[in-house]
Amino acid sequence: MTTEHAVPAHIPPHLIRNFDLWAELTAQGENAYAWAAKLHQSMPPIFWVPSLGFLPGTWIPRRSADLRRILQDPQTFSSVGLTPYPRLLGESWRLAPLEVDPPEHAKYRALLNPLFTPKKVDALEQDIRELATQLIGQIAQSGRCDFNQDFAKPFPTLIFLKLMGWPLADQPLFQHWTQTLIKSVDPQVVTENAQAITGWIRAHIAECRKNPGDDFTSYLLASEIDGRPLTDDEMLGINFLIFIGGLDTVTSSIGLFFRHLARNPEQQAQLRVKPELIPDAVEELLRAYFIVNMRRTVTCDVQIGEATMKKGDIVLISTELANLDPEVFDAADQVDFLRSAGHAPHMAFSYGVHRCVGSHLARRELRIALELWLQLMPPFRIAADTQPRFNAYGVFGMEDLHLEWDLPSATAHAHAVQAQQVSP
Ligand code: HEM
Repeated sequence: MTTEHAVPAHIPPHLIRNFDLWAELTAQGENAYAWAAKLHQSMPPIFWVPSLGFLPGTWIPRRSADLRRILQDPQTFSSVGLTPYPRLLGESWRLAPLEVDPPEHAKYRALLNPLFTPKKVDALEQDIRELATQLIGQIAQSGRCDFNQDFAKPFPTLIFLKLMGWPLADQPLFQHWTQTLIKSVDPQVVTENAQAITGWIRAHIAECRKNPGDDFTSYLLASEIDGRPLTDDEMLGINFLIFIGGLDTVTSSIGLFFRHLARNPEQQAQLRVKPELIPDAVEELLRAYFIVNMRRTVTCDVQIGEATMKKGDIVLISTELANLDPEVFDAADQVDFLRSAGHAPHMAFSYGVHRCVGSHLARRELRIALELWLQLMPPFRIAADTQPRFNAYGVFGMEDLHLEWDLPSATAHAHAVQAQQVSP
């Protein structure tokens, strides 16, 4: 759903491009990434679009260098009010640290950093492997699967709940809420889901106040900022952010990665023969199949290239355009697992102070998912009678993805899965 918004007077007509980036990407389906790569040939370095879904018009810088400059200058390009959720509910809490600018940002970030270190992720590795193995074991003998339902959604959701110490039984609720909250373009649906999520979080905070446990919310209740406990609004905002940051992102990436391997059997075979390439493949697939668009609000008039941005303008930080920039990546629209060594870093996890705090966890989940699927399952492909469906609203991802594979020898596979389940 695209909403019409008036174009501010200071936007020069020659920089206006009349299309809704998210609607176009969604309409392009599986061709979305190749289509986005071509914007580098057809668009000025910075252009203006009059709307993005139900959001108002924004500047879209396409060059990685401009995007990095913007992300490195949070004083001029603020993250305050980045998401619509508190506003839709008529409330004023913030998704901290995401919607907080420096220097205040650092205080909230310091609360989260210790929970997401590589060491913390190491401690979860065995759980991640066991869960992936178990989910694969449930579908291995069926010859096909609904990839989102059977793997891409439950895998990161259960890991996330385990890390947070939140009730595993609420997995279906979490999956439903995050999906509808992030993917819907209907403000009514988004509001209802935001209400449901904040209701769950508020009830959980109340429960943890009464009976503190070993979970994330209890950790926050025992934490301090500037020598004082967190306020109710701070508790809500941080919990809400973690909720939306950690779930749909990994689900979306896994879906896109597996669609790529299903469509490109030679690259799937390459990773089967050389599993040591998997960490590089994760980086290359994160680059090629970016999923997040962020926005910033201009705090004072500023010139970037040809664009004169005014205080209050919105700027889209499109990780897809950064990751497809031909000035940074040769043959940027091609996936090449060998390109990563010594190459410029991609921007899938953003850049600057808001760089993703969950990147170590996300990378580990993605690597283990690839390793175990390629180890335990025969070559897989898109199921013959299905067409993968892509959606670019909110977090990009596969809306529908069905995979199939041949069952060479049922017993051989059962043994492989069993052996994996008992191995340390
Ligand atoms: C493939 C998976 C993921 C991708 C592509 C991703 C991407 C991003 C991006 C682009 C940002 C920066 C937003 C901005 O600059 O405005 C971000 C921030 C953040 N991410 Fe992730 N993310 C992923 C997984 C996760 C996970 C698993 C968690 C936690 C469990 C998480 C938690 C967060 C948090 C809390 C922030 C805010 C950091 C801050 O503002 O300082 N993310 N993520």
